[in-house]
Amino acid sequence: MNCDTKCPAIRQVMFPKDTNPSGNIFGGIILSHIDVAGAIAARLHSKHRMVTVCMKEVVFKKPVKVGDILTCWTDVVAKGRTSVTVKIRVEAERHGEVIHVTDGEAIYVAVDSQDRPIALDSEIVTDNKGDIAPATPAAPTAPASTDEKSEKKGKKEKKEKKNKKGKKDKKGKKGKK
Ligand SMILES: CC(C)(COP(=O)(O)OP(=O)(O)OC[C@H]1O[C@@H](n2cnc3c(N)ncnc32)[C@H](O)[C@@H]1OP(=O)(O)O)[C@@H](O)C(=O)NCCC(=O)NCCS
Repeated sequence: MNCDTKCPAIRQVMFPKDTNPSGNIFGGIILSHIDVAGAIAARLHSKHRMVTVCMKEVVFKKPVKVGDILTCWTDVVAKGRTSVTVKIRVEAERHGEVIHVTDGEAIYVAVDSQDRPIALDSEIVTDNKGDIAPATPAAPTAPASTDEKSEKKGKKEKKEKKNKKGKKDKKGKKGKK
């Protein structure tokens, strides 16, 4: 990991409530710490809410025990338009010894208020109540081309002529009666 960018996103003492039937810390608990640690690192790269889109292979190399201090080190390894990729290294401290437990990689995506991906560096848009509004409004419809405009004008003129003719015919019929 790059020492300039890595930071311990999480340090947590392991409690008995998180054990599996064999007395070690349940893998799902460690996965959730990996996910949260990566999300904390990813959040430093966007003002938007970040969601986990993918977690790559996680191999549990050593068991984690009750009383261990679990540390998740994070390192942002890639950034795309909407996504941030974070490597997470997990260590357990036990009786002064540091044990490398596992490594993981997770990808987080910045999303708007409607859970749609949004550019990491885009601004947050708020509505008139101050709530976060969808930041990607529908694109405005393109102005009509001159051909379309003249076609529409022609149709309008035809319609007006037809209406005038209809009124004249009605008047003529009334006069005959
Ligand atoms: C995350 C989510 C918004 C992405 O939506 P999407 O329609 O797949 O988005 P896109 O295809 O436009 O991809 C958006 C970004 O995610 C990346 N991405 C999408 N699927 C991916 C995958 N399986 N692996 C890696 N990256 C992925 C794309 O490469 C893209 O990154 P970039 O913009 O930096 O190039 C959507 O899948 C989602 O809501 N998932 C549920 C998230 C969730 O509930 N997580 C658990 C709790 S936080």
